[in-house]
Amino acid sequence: MRLLFASEEWDAAPWRERLEALDPSVTVETEPSEPAAIDYVLAWKPRAGLWPTLTGLKGVVNLGAGVDALLADPSLPDVPIARCVDPDLSARMAEYITLHCLAHLRDVRADDAAQARAEWEPRPARVASEVTVGLMGYGALARAAQAPLHALGFSCIGWSRSAKDDADVPVHVGADGLRAFLAGTDILVSLLPLTDATRGLLNASAFAKLRRTHGAPSLINAGRGGVQVEPDILAALDAGTLGFATLDVFEEEPLPADNPLWRHPRVRITPHVAAPSDPLALAPYVLAQIERMERGLAPEHPAVRDRGY
Ligand code: NDP
Ligand code: OXD
Repeated sequence: MRLLFASEEWDAAPWRERLEALDPSVTVETEPSEPAAIDYVLAWKPRAGLWPTLTGLKGVVNLGAGVDALLADPSLPDVPIARCVDPDLSARMAEYITLHCLAHLRDVRADDAAQARAEWEPRPARVASEVTVGLMGYGALARAAQAPLHALGFSCIGWSRSAKDDADVPVHVGADGLRAFLAGTDILVSLLPLTDATRGLLNASAFAKLRRTHGAPSLINAGRGGVQVEPDILAALDAGTLGFATLDVFEEEPLPADNPLWRHPRVRITPHVAAPSDPLALAPYVLAQIERMERGLAPEHPAVRDRGY
């Protein structure tokens, strides 16, 4: 079986090593001598112009959870697409969300600032049980973050496109449920995919609707940068509508050095590292998806083109 590793950002070597060790019948290529003989593509932001050459393609495994970059290419052939949903990826995201919810709760940035001034500055602290985390996009990653947040005493609510009968927290649905979701949220955590419907949703109007009973609400975006309106975040922070923003993803990545988000005192920037895809952990899942597609089955977590995620 011939697999093509197609990424302009990630190193092929650890994926190749792990996949070929787990399944000696697969060969992982990066520059195929015979593009028409490639069976499956392992993709993360592949180069433009790739797809038309792969005339024998049977399927694609997207090596991350978000498929926005893949689906944005109109020349992507009509083959099944698996996206990554895996306990390792979920655990990493749960760590990131929990870490930053706690940092918001305790205003760790204010402690850092006081320490930099060598000032002993005790402040009243909120407790997690007063705070509701609004999980915007109540999918695989949001559900994973919910357990540690609950264990710490936070309340959680969710927002999704479709109703969730199996959720053990209130989940608001669609445009009709957005206002109530925001009105109940102190820390807004976006784990939304980037689609036509989600682009720009983290905007001034949304920030103004957040709950303010326990101080200024705050924002964590670890989904996609295109969901946030960066000038609205800066304006909301300056006006006190938002107290803090932790951003892992940006409209333009890497975030340009002259972007004012870098220097805002109430912003924490992380360089798209909330939940990296680890080849050691994900290779068995990747092979399992290929095996399913070989048997004519759909991947476990298919990307659905007409909904965009
Ligand atoms: P899922 O598909 O499992 O979850 C997406 C959630 O968003 C679902 O609940 C879905 O609703 C909801 N949603 C989508 N569109 C809308 C809409 N228009 N209105 C309301 N809700 C909507 O994805 P994952 O949890 O696996 O991943 C989420 C995203 O996280 C990825 O797409 C990626 O962009 C990002 N990501 C970022 C990483 C990082 O390191 N920063 C790492 C991994 C992922 P429904 O349940 O009804 O389908
Ligand atoms: C992903 C990501 O979508 O790392 O998996 O952003």
